Amino acid sequence: MDTIILAIESSCDDTSAAVIKNGLLMSNVIASQKVHEEFGGVVPELASRAHQQNIMPVVDAALKHAGVDKKDLSAIAFTRGPGLLGSLLVGTSFAKGLALSLHIPLVEVNHLQGHIMAHFVEPSPEYIATNPKLQGIDIKHPQLPFLCLLVSGGNSQIVKVEAYNRMQIIGQTIDDAAGEAFDKCAKVMGLPYPGGPWIDKLAKQGNPTAFPFAKPNIAGYDYSFSGLKTSFLYTLRDLMKEHQVDTVDALAEQIPNLREDLCASLQTTIIDILLKKVKKAAKDLGITRIAVAGGVSANSGLRDAMMQLSQPSSCIVHRQPSTYEVFIPPFSFTTDNAAMIAQAGYYKFLDHDFCPIDAAPYAQTTI
Ligand code: KG4
Repeated sequence: MDTIILAIESSCDDTSAAVIKNGLLMSNVIASQKVHEEFGGVVPELASRAHQQNIMPVVDAALKHAGVDKKDLSAIAFTRGPGLLGSLLVGTSFAKGLALSLHIPLVEVNHLQGHIMAHFVEPSPEYIATNPKLQGIDIKHPQLPFLCLLVSGGNSQIVKVEAYNRMQIIGQTIDDAAGEAFDKCAKVMGLPYPGGPWIDKLAKQGNPTAFPFAKPNIAGYDYSFSGLKTSFLYTLRDLMKEHQVDTVDALAEQIPNLREDLCASLQTTIIDILLKKVKKAAKDLGITRIAVAGGVSANSGLRDAMMQLSQPSSCIVHRQPSTYEVFIPPFSFTTDNAAMIAQAGYYKFLDHDFCPIDAAPYAQTTI
């Protein structure tokens, strides 16, 4: 008998549903919410309302694209947390209602573990046929154990992954997340929300050494991005004072390539901060497999820098291995999506790791 799981993700501002059949991804539908753009960040109340509007058509489309009837489903997997409570409630309630009506088990998934499980998504030939961006891509799955740099809008962590259900956070941000630093600095420059992709785009035409921003000095494997954010803000403030202007637009008229250089410098600083700690953790723990996950892993500079880690080092004398095996998920599985929830849910289903019908969503948690 086939094992077919419908997964639902609604932790923030993307409503997504996916179907996985016998471990192969059949569909992954994502409805992003444009309503937040004008506010420069996600408005929780608007997010939950948009989830309510989107969830039925998104689930319907996921089943349709997979060629699956709901009566053939073996279980419903859903993101239980962490995330925005109002958003999570929509997906959780929908999953419970559907599971109850179909008399099938519920599987809860931790959103952060889901991001890491994006590395194990195995698209079916049918799915690849309808997703040209996946065609010709060699998807490599990391062998256990490995380190995962988990970087999103709400989290920046280094996770030691020993099994899909055995993960340990060995370092994390003590204040802002890397994605938050991208988004908040973008907002200061007057760029739309979410700012990460805009910074990525502009950074390509900028000078990464134009502005020397502050880097944190935090012990162990933890991160901090609030000092960088302040340093970015003060740099702009001082430039505006020096040029006697009140807006970034006016400043950009006086300084050629201003936004591009700011973006390139900020992006390089964030990547340096992220990778320095990952390399330290890999060296200390003797783990040479490094993966990256979460929305910020869509960043082209970070992806390039990760790939460079896997190149042979020019240094000949070293005791530790100089190169790493690097794993970067396909773009479509980096930002919030239900395919990763389906993958995590599939493993839990095989373990009969079901959740009770009264399981409430949670806003915060560790892995
Ligand atoms: O994982 P995700 O979709 O949602 C959370 O769970 O937070 O991550 C969203 C974050 C946002 O901060 C967004 O700006 C960032 O990922 N992001 C990027 C890029 N694409 C998305 N940051 C830098 N460069 C990108 N290309």
